[in-house]
Amino acid sequence: MPDFQAWTTRILKRTETALESLLPTATIAPERLHAAMRYAVLGGGKRVRPLLVHAAGEVCSAPPENLDTAACAVELIHAYSLVHDDMPCMDDDVLRRGKPTVHVQYDEATALLAGDALQTLAFRALSRAGLLADPAAQVAMVHDLAQAAGSRGMAGGQAIDLASVGRQLDRSELEFMHIHKTGALIRCAVVLGARCGSALAAADIEHLDRFGKLVGLLFQVVDDILDAEGDTATLGKTAGKDAAHDKPTYVSLLGLARSRAYAGELLDQALGEIEPLPASQRLAELARFIVHRHF
Ligand code: IPE
Ligand code: IPE
Ligand code: MG
Ligand code: MG
Ligand code: MG
Repeated sequence: MPDFQAWTTRILKRTETALESLLPTATIAPERLHAAMRYAVLGGGKRVRPLLVHAAGEVCSAPPENLDTAACAVELIHAYSLVHDDMPCMDDDVLRRGKPTVHVQYDEATALLAGDALQTLAFRALSRAGLLADPAAQVAMVHDLAQAAGSRGMAGGQAIDLASVGRQLDRSELEFMHIHKTGALIRCAVVLGARCGSALAAADIEHLDRFGKLVGLLFQVVDDILDAEGDTATLGKTAGKDAAHDKPTYVSLLGLARSRAYAGELLDQALGEIEPLPASQRLAELARFIVHRHF
């Protein structure tokens, strides 16, 4: 089995190729919109969600080509969420993945439309006829992604985030927000990977789903920590903006040390969930990466 670094490099490469071929070229009209979509998606980001799709796919021996499409669909939704998250009406950020944000590089209307079009491109990819041999499993993937991206998932979490500026949420409110704004899509990445392969036993699906839920929360706890203690050059996005914008975060609620301890607890719980599963080593490595990353 190749080491984690080599595996990650390989998956990142094939994800980039798959995204590149899904996105319309910037020579097709409307050129400016297509250029903005490509700018938002290509050549940046950790690609944690595609990595999770592929790692979950290993548990059920899924064909890598199917995983590529699921991975792209989740990454396109994620990229759209970042474009809109950075807009002046939301977090008003100027730097993303080490580059000017889409509304800065292009303009606000183009950023809005690029986000819209990335979202529909995700569903177009996932609904391609014959993607999975089992049409019911494929429809389930479309349903999962819609649920994870919508008002009961990411978009809903973002609404709570914006409504919470200047307020300190209690612990359960904060967890609810994080599970939705970030957790839902991460959890969905794991579930989609699992749907691309041979059917798993119900108990194994439960383990994967609980793992995805824990890692989703964990991911945003670490994002909160990095915002407070990271630097802009390493993060590729402006550090310290949560405090500057008076956002409720795990750091503002618990402080840095207890937030780090909580991330460690969530990691242990997540690893415990997948321990009984065969071929879950990549998922475990990814969960550790998510906690120990510096960007
Ligand atoms: C940032 O996500 C926004 C959150 C959901 C916390 P990532 O940290 O995955 O961003 P990229 O894709 O690597 O740029
Ligand atoms: C973003 O959370 C969550 C989504 C984009 C859905 P943040 O606002 O904390 O993400 P960053 O820190 O700007 O990447
Ligand atoms: Mg935000
Ligand atoms: Mg933000
Ligand atoms: Mg953040």
